[in-house]
Amino acid sequence: MSKITIAIDGFSSTGKSTVAKQIAKYLGYVYVDSGAMYRAVTFFAMQKGLIDNNHFNVEALISRLNEVEISFKFNEALGFAEVYLNGENIEKQIRTLEVSSFVSQVATVSEVRKQLVRQQQKMGQDKGVVMDGRDIGTVVFPDAELKIFMTASAERRAKRRFNELLERGDAVIYDDVLKNVQERDHIDSNRKDSPLLKAEDAIEIDNSNLSLQEQFEKVLQLAKITI
Ligand code: C5P
Repeated sequence: MSKITIAIDGFSSTGKSTVAKQIAKYLGYVYVDSGAMYRAVTFFAMQKGLIDNNHFNVEALISRLNEVEISFKFNEALGFAEVYLNGENIEKQIRTLEVSSFVSQVATVSEVRKQLVRQQQKMGQDKGVVMDGRDIGTVVFPDAELKIFMTASAERRAKRRFNELLERGDAVIYDDVLKNVQERDHIDSNRKDSPLLKAEDAIEIDNSNLSLQEQFEKVLQLAKITI
C-alpha cells in the first residue's frame, strides 16, 4: 500500500492532535505536532528572557535561533512522540496557558517559521506522516494527498482546552482560556506570513457535534479512499 501525507489544519483546540494521533496509530504513520515546535521556540524565548507580558525582543530571538534544537522521541507508554528542546523533555512545560499566551506572537516571525517549516518538510519527506498545524496543507505540504480543515465554535473549543488544563492540575479560569483561544485565532488568521487558511483542496470538518469516535471514523474513511 502506498504511503500518503495527511495534513490537518484548523483553529486552536479543534481536536486536531487527538484525531491526528489516532489516525497515525491506525495507519502506522508518524505523527508530528507542528504546534509543539512553535511552543518549544516560545518556551526557549521565555527561558532566555526574550518575551514576557511587556516586551518581545524579536531581533534577539532571531539571532539565537541557532541555539534551538527541537526533536521528538516516541514515548511507548503514552503512545505518541514527546517534544524535546536541546535534549530536555519539555512536553509538560509547553502546554501551559502562559506559553499559549505568547506562542502566536512568536509564530508571526518569518525566520522562526522558515526554520521550523524546513525541519517539518524533512520529517515528512518519506511520506507516511500525519502532521497537524495551521499551514500544513498550504505551506509545509501543499501537495499532501489528504488535507483536512477542522473547525468548531470558539466556546466549544475553549471548554475542551479548559477541561484539559484542569485535568493536568492547572488552576485556570474559563474566561481566560476562551480569551486565549480567540486571541490566537485572530493573530494566526491575520499574520502576514502563512496565515491560517483553508487550502482550496482541503475537506472541512466541523466537529462541534461529533464524538471522538465519529470524528476518527470520518477522517479514517477519507484516508482510506485516498490511499
Ligand atoms: O497547535 P497548537 O495550538 O499547539 O499551536 C500553537 C500555536 O503555534 C498556534 O496558535 C499558532 O500560533 C502556532 N502554529 C503555527 N503554525 C503551525 C502550528 C502552530 O503558526 N503549523
